[in-house]
Amino acid sequence: MNFQNATFEKAFGTAAQLEPSHLPEICFSGRSNVGKSSLINKLLGRKSLARVSAKPGKTVTINFYRVGDVRLVDLPGYGYAKVPFAEKSRWSELMEAYFQSDRAIRHVFQLVDIRHPVTPFDRSMLEFLKASGIPYTVVLTKADKLNRTEKGERLTAVMQELGELAENTQVIPFSVKENEATERLRDIIRRETDFC
Ligand code: GTP
Ligand code: MG
Repeated sequence: MNFQNATFEKAFGTAAQLEPSHLPEICFSGRSNVGKSSLINKLLGRKSLARVSAKPGKTVTINFYRVGDVRLVDLPGYGYAKVPFAEKSRWSELMEAYFQSDRAIRHVFQLVDIRHPVTPFDRSMLEFLKASGIPYTVVLTKADKLNRTEKGERLTAVMQELGELAENTQVIPFSVKENEATERLRDIIRRETDFC
């Protein structure tokens, strides 16, 4: 799998536009501004294939990126208080349609800002994934904002906060400014899609 050779494929803004697919898909989920689009750019070795914004709520569509026969899926961020109600219900419809459509979801990276506690939204997403049997990894983003000691403390705290939701899964601190975690995430993607 050549991560450097990726293209933007499509954006879906409504459930009706969503097409069924059997290509293996790897998803990125998490609250607005947590760093989903930045992480995708880092994985793909690109500066701005996925649009990044300092303002939360930038990605209100499901965006598909194609790497060979694998799709990376940038899910719309949730939990941003200033988003109007109509947008919030569009978000739930879109997410529900995505997860209920007949597709090959291989893995979900659930992103949580390393500096903040796990939100009820994060927790319900993880509970849903666990109940659905979809493999997932928890990624603690913006790790460069903390020093080594603080990072270790937050990692332990998050594992505790998650309890059984962290069992049989990895919790990986990540920063767009470091390369090691990027390779770990790429390895997970390769493993989950190894015939592609
Ligand atoms: P939505 O599309 O609104 O859901 O947001 P998103 O989760 O895609 O976040 P995005 O990648 O747009 O990043 C939000 C902000 O966080 C931007 O200002 C990024 O530059 C910043 N950011 C993302 N990752 C990192 C990181 O690892 N370290 C630091 N310091 N900043 C980061
Ligand atoms: Mg985004």
